[in-house]
Amino acid sequence: MSQELVNQTTSGMRPYPMEELGRIKANLIKEGRPVYDFGTGDPLIPTWAPIREAILNAIPVISQYPSVRGVEPLRDAQWTYLNNRFNIQKTPDIGLIPAQGTKEAIFNIGLCLIGRGGKKHLVYPDPGYPVYRASALYSGGIPYPVRLTAENNMRIEPWKLPVEIQQNTAAIWINHPHNPTGATVSYDYWKELIAWCHKTDTILLSDDCYADIYDTTFDLSPTTDLAKDKRPLTPLQISSDRVIAFMSLSKRSGMTGYRTGMIAGDARIINSIVQARANFGVGSPNFIQAGSTVAWADESHVAERRKIFSHRLKLAFPTLQKLGLTDKIPEAAFYFWCKIPDSFKGNDVKFILALADEGIISSPSSWLSEGMTGFFRLAMVPDDEATVAAMEILTRFVKKHS
Ligand SMILES: Cc1ncc(COP(=O)(O)O)c(C=O)c1O
Repeated sequence: MSQELVNQTTSGMRPYPMEELGRIKANLIKEGRPVYDFGTGDPLIPTWAPIREAILNAIPVISQYPSVRGVEPLRDAQWTYLNNRFNIQKTPDIGLIPAQGTKEAIFNIGLCLIGRGGKKHLVYPDPGYPVYRASALYSGGIPYPVRLTAENNMRIEPWKLPVEIQQNTAAIWINHPHNPTGATVSYDYWKELIAWCHKTDTILLSDDCYADIYDTTFDLSPTTDLAKDKRPLTPLQISSDRVIAFMSLSKRSGMTGYRTGMIAGDARIINSIVQARANFGVGSPNFIQAGSTVAWADESHVAERRKIFSHRLKLAFPTLQKLGLTDKIPEAAFYFWCKIPDSFKGNDVKFILALADEGIISSPSSWLSEGMTGFFRLAMVPDDEATVAAMEILTRFVKKHS
């Protein structure tokens, strides 16, 4: 009889970083100590009231299964968003489907793409969102992390990968604005990347989770010239051929707990994955779709959220800069990617555990990557008061250990 009760992919999974951080936080709370949680990227800002009202009003007396395709008003609102935000028109070349948050969609897409044309590699950024790797492993694919460094401007240059990897890559994950570093890329980069995907027949999977969280000043000069638009782009603005974008309402609209997002892109692929997804059993409940309809169609509440994040980044930056932990405010997303103080000799886990002992939760690069040490991430999710208090604690902590 087999002693393996679960398969090796499952037994070999590393603890999910956010679960680990949750345990550290729970211990601090149990000891009755103040906690400043900069660990998980789950912003503590109330969800816009009209979204919540739409959800409450849509709770049905009789509950029925949601469809995989999504209700028509939601689909219309998603098209409105693509048009308003990215100037993407509704054409037969582009398809879209709602997702129950992008996490499941990011995981499940591997099941649909790995093995296409005999290609088994899934290329993705490292450090990065851990689900890319999990998706490759559970789909029977070969994970191919590409380390982002200052030398490659914190972006994957797939044209520099070994030729056999370029030929055997089923799909490539790109995530800009990037979690955890906040790195952004230019129009020229997207063009070059898309050309490479077309040349090598690779599906471009763009994780656009943070596309709407950017420096507030970028809104001031609206332009349809993609080369001049300072707001993050989605590659779908350039081509839909072999391009799929994953867009989330989690950070844009503060709906992390509601589980809602969308997949948009090459209609040939979307049409096939609609059918596949009917088997996975996903699709947000209809009352969540009602709230999502309101969220996609409105930009004002997103502008308000951007202001809050920009303010928090500016509030914390002088301290982080003075302590030598970072030298710039990220242009997008709400993370600081900081260097571990020299006194900790690059040992990021030792650093974040010692800092957690002072009440500040953060994420070490080792847990957000495949072996990268020396950095930690601060998710600027606590409010202003907590941010100011945490910066004081951090200053005392770093000085004590220097
Ligand atoms: C880079 C990135 N992609 C995707 C997600 C998933 O977001 P959701 O499933 O809430 O849409 C996250 C969440 O933190 C993320 O950081």
